[in-house]
Amino acid sequence: MNTKPVVAIDGPAGAGKTSVARSVARALSVPYLDTGAMYRAAAWAVLDAGVSPSDAEEVARLVGVSEILVKEDSVTVGGVDVTEAIRSPEVTEAVSLVAAYPEVRSGLLALQRDWVRWRNGCVMEGRDISTVVLPDADLKVYLDASPGVRAQRRAGESDADPASVEASIERRDVLDSGREHAPLRRAPDAFVIDTDGLSVDGVVSRILTELRRRKKAGEVGKVSEPVKSPAVSGDPRYGRSRFGERRSLGGSVVHFVMRSSVQIVGFPFFRIRRRHLRRVPRKGALIVAPAGHRSNLDTPLVGGAVPRNMHYMAKDTLFKSPFWSSFLAALGGFPTLRDKVDRRALRYARRVLERGEALVVFPEGERKTGRRVHPLFSGPVWLSEVTGAPILPVGVGGAERAMPKGALIPRPYRVRIVFGEPIPALEKASSRASSIYRRQRASEELREVLQRLFDEAQDWAGTPNDPPSHDP
Ligand code: CDP
Repeated sequence: MNTKPVVAIDGPAGAGKTSVARSVARALSVPYLDTGAMYRAAAWAVLDAGVSPSDAEEVARLVGVSEILVKEDSVTVGGVDVTEAIRSPEVTEAVSLVAAYPEVRSGLLALQRDWVRWRNGCVMEGRDISTVVLPDADLKVYLDASPGVRAQRRAGESDADPASVEASIERRDVLDSGREHAPLRRAPDAFVIDTDGLSVDGVVSRILTELRRRKKAGEVGKVSEPVKSPAVSGDPRYGRSRFGERRSLGGSVVHFVMRSSVQIVGFPFFRIRRRHLRRVPRKGALIVAPAGHRSNLDTPLVGGAVPRNMHYMAKDTLFKSPFWSSFLAALGGFPTLRDKVDRRALRYARRVLERGEALVVFPEGERKTGRRVHPLFSGPVWLSEVTGAPILPVGVGGAERAMPKGALIPRPYRVRIVFGEPIPALEKASSRASSIYRRQRASEELREVLQRLFDEAQDWAGTPNDPPSHDP
């Protein structure tokens, strides 16, 4: 559900992609990803491990387990900063060989698509962005320039001799355009700019003008298709379980009464207000992930604020007495061991989602304190990946002041709830090693999204999170 544009920029070495992409991203206030840096990081990992770039099997294995992370101002591999190292002549010589292997490309393609998933609009640059990575981009730019100009630009960035730079660029052009998988190609619908004789600003302004034109024509910021709920898959093993089941009639009545009382009594008491309620998908499987689990009020208030029936992962200690256990089960709660992976609870959760229903999971685990969203459990991301359910990030603000940990009686302070854009499920991973790293990355991305929503909700409630010096 993009509201900001997605721009793909492709072209050969020295066409000016990086400077242009950065400026366009800045002008549009969207993030930017240099996919070439990912391939360079892969090549660095290969050279660093002493593996020959022509050893296909070893290269594929190694890149599969390399934890490559490209940010706007740094590149790391397994936590090692390689921002400078990936620009060395050795890496530049090896990169096109490494980038030609289909296993390497599919691993990095997954990371690139994951990256977009967490962002609203972006500029991504590389060789196959328009054709393979983002074929639905709002604008596909192909930057070109004559070989001499490109070599001159590259030589100008270092002290290298122009003739050898030109030879090196030509070698890469041949490899990048001639390879079998995702070669450098102009997309048929690309906006082609010949940058010979044009300044960076000149190219940027052409791109921005074209984007404005498309926006006027209603071609930018199309709303993507909602994710369909996965098919219901019955599993007789859970036939008699009381947890994670479809609600009984009695359960529906208890749930309705509880939700209505939260809305009738709780909403005016806490002067609840909600922002972006239209972002909540009303149908289909959904993982509702609230941030800032700072108070016992969070669960009932989120339960009342989301306009659909939901199930809840709740801490197992609440299920001690038979009365509470059946009461909570009727409300749609099921017991979850706290702060460790609870496979049984994940099975209940999966069952709820596979039936196309909604589930509330606090990704930080147990109630926490402080202004920072804590590192997340991988449960929500895993559930999203295996069931295809989108994640709805939610920020809850003001609840800690209204009822801090340890308090027994809530106080009538403002509570605010901000809904984020639903995040489509991760695509299934092709290999186990890369899937672990991708889930880790996805949890970290989710944490950042949740932090922004938590900050927004806290500001709105009048209990701002800044200055962040009181972090736990
Ligand atoms: O900046 P420069 O044009 O020198 O290259 P880069 O963007 O850093 O990319 C380095 C190499 O990575 C390219 O020569 C390609 O072999 C490879 N690459 C790719 O195959 N696909 C991409 N989307 C981006 C880069």
